[in-house]
Amino acid sequence: MTVLELVKKNRSYRRFYQNEQVSRAQLEKLVELARFSASGGNMQPLRFILSCDKEKNTKIFSCLKWAMMLKDWDGPEEGERPSAYIVIVKRRDITTPNSLDAGIMAQSMLLGAVESGLGGCMFGAVNKPLLSDLLGIDNEEYEIALVVAIGKPKEKIVIDDIGGGQDTRYYRDDDGVHHVPKISTQDLIIG
Ligand SMILES: Cc1cc2nc3c(=O)[nH]c(=O)nc-3n(C[C@H](O)[C@H](O)[C@H](O)COP(=O)(O)O)c2cc1C
Repeated sequence: MTVLELVKKNRSYRRFYQNEQVSRAQLEKLVELARFSASGGNMQPLRFILSCDKEKNTKIFSCLKWAMMLKDWDGPEEGERPSAYIVIVKRRDITTPNSLDAGIMAQSMLLGAVESGLGGCMFGAVNKPLLSDLLGIDNEEYEIALVVAIGKPKEKIVIDDIGGGQDTRYYRDDDGVHHVPKISTQDLIIG
């Protein structure tokens, strides 16, 4: 796959073949991609909590807010949930010039997931106090930055090309196909 193909295939997937296991070794390989990613000031404040077992997955799932644009959908049913998660946390004692590392590292990991036939979604809408509590994260030491869900995608997603002024809201059509409007390259370039 070219980088363009990989990036286009790397959509936010929210329905999965839950019985397709993702191993801890696979998750560790994704963290390796995070390791080689850019970090502001190279301070590397992020740490990773891996989950690929039922009990931990259930706890993480209960803290996520799925697809705020899909008003009549509360997230995937049992059987279509992610098989694994990577919770990205930030060490509180390392003060960084900005807080972009988590997004960059999440993207690296998701691209790696797509390369190996998996896919996922990043979550900023997380009940962080509850997740900290459920996973026993030391709140004084770490704050939760992002959660990345991983699994074998079970949904069709298409990109719709739109102009700069058009509606960017994603939606699911009557056939269950998820549509993601993306502004054209020419309309993104403003100078
Ligand atoms: C920083 C960030 C946080 C996100 N948080 C959530 C989230 O909490 N829940 C969710 O369902 N999707 C979340 N998403 C996924 C976006 O909804 C998704 O990127 C957007 O709909 C475009 O779809 P695409 O990723 O396939 O291009 C997040 C994406 C980013 C970049």
